[in-house]
Amino acid sequence: MFPWKDYAGRTSPLKLVVFIALFAPALWVALAFSMGWLGARPLNEAIHQLGLWTIRLIFIALAITPLRHILQWMRLVLVRRMVGVAAFAYGIAHLSLYAGDQAFDIAKIATEIAVRIYLTIGFVALLGLAALAATSTDGMVRRLGRRWQQLHRLVYAIALLAVVHYCMQSKLDLWEPMIMAGIYGWLMGYRLLSRFLPRTIIVRRRLPVAWIGGLGVAAAVLTALGEAAYFWIAFGADPMRVITANWSLMLGLRPGVVVLGLGVAVTAAGGLRGVVALPPRRRPRPA
Ligand code: HEM
Repeated sequence: MFPWKDYAGRTSPLKLVVFIALFAPALWVALAFSMGWLGARPLNEAIHQLGLWTIRLIFIALAITPLRHILQWMRLVLVRRMVGVAAFAYGIAHLSLYAGDQAFDIAKIATEIAVRIYLTIGFVALLGLAALAATSTDGMVRRLGRRWQQLHRLVYAIALLAVVHYCMQSKLDLWEPMIMAGIYGWLMGYRLLSRFLPRTIIVRRRLPVAWIGGLGVAAAVLTALGEAAYFWIAFGADPMRVITANWSLMLGLRPGVVVLGLGVAVTAAGGLRGVVALPPRRRPRPA
């Protein structure tokens, strides 16, 4: 089946637009590489760009479930598998360019992956994405039934490994990795809330918007504390000074502030839609 067709076999404008958009970053990197726009170490820059898009796409795929509920846009689920498979493709391109940078010396690449812990972590994440991509066909979804969903929960661990790989290789500039870590906290927090909040709060599958706001604040606070802890452990910087930097724009927007802004935006969207409605629980199928 063509990726832009929906379950009924009709062309879905949403799927078509997303399908085309998914090629854009790769085409941009290829163009920038061939035009010499990627600086002094173009191959290294291309590896970075593709790595960034791998993690961004993993996060976009993870954001689809909460956004469906908050924006009341249930058809968003149509593009989730496509985005996940694209994340895997970008991951493979990222690994291939790294292999190219090592002159395709397989023994050296294998040794590097085995001894450099951040590469080991990236490789395990990519293996996980491979398992998800391989089971993403309609046939596999049917064949695995409920086990498909259980298997695809692996994406939570894969996203965590991706954040750790990103943080470890970034060393000094942890601005974007910290934002990713904060968003990861929000995404996991949303799943915990929608699954474990008692029925006195989630009445008729409706999650109060105030809880989404609270989650945004909690994710932002954790991001700011995580940043302070990192600078304290790595450089002995006074944690209070790092935390108070969040109130000053002199150092630019700190990760905690960015995560707070995203949390506020999502809460406002939920507020405008008036309700965060979770889909009805599926009844267990008879054996
Ligand atoms: C799901 C899997 C992976 C994700 C999400 C991922 C993501 C990333 C990200 C976000 C960066 C940083 C980009 C930047 O700073 O601008 C990066 C860098 C890098 N990644 Fe990955 N990566 C993955 C797997 C791998 C694998 C399998 C390898 C190789 C075995 C690898 C090798 C590298 C290298 C060499 C760098 C640059 C390090 C440096 O310049 O010091 N990654 N990756």
